Amino acid sequence: MPVFPAQLDQLKAAARQASQQAYAPYSKFKVGAAILTRTGKIYAGCNVENASYGLCNCAERTAIFNAVAAGEKKLKIECVAIYTPTTEPTAPCGACRQVINEFGPKARIVSTCRGRSVLDATLDQLLPNAFGPGNLSK
Ligand code: THU
Repeated sequence: MPVFPAQLDQLKAAARQASQQAYAPYSKFKVGAAILTRTGKIYAGCNVENASYGLCNCAERTAIFNAVAAGEKKLKIECVAIYTPTTEPTAPCGACRQVINEFGPKARIVSTCRGRSVLDATLDQLLPNAFGPGNLSK
């Protein structure tokens, strides 16, 4: 489903706001993300790091887990916005691509930054031939 320009603006703003909540004392790389559900709701998240580095959780997954924890039983993700205060946009990591696939295999991914450059792609472009829930039932 297409995302209306006004919704996309809201989603990008939510991602930018969320980046300010990032807990990133180790990498100092603050990331914000926001997801738009098929029902038009927005959930945001930031990265949350840990002294045990491997436990760091990305902003994208925080946003998705936030939606599920809020009670989204049949979560369908239409669009994911990401924001980093960098000069170039940040692409979601492999783990996040896989988690986005679970709820939004056709999702649009829009990453913005301090600079003008924007990454605008579909999850399918970023994670072709993904393994997903459908594979388990075949
Ligand atoms: N990070 C995200 O939150 N999202 C991304 O798309 C890329 C990486 C976080 C993880 C870690 O807290 C920091 O950025 C540096 O990798």
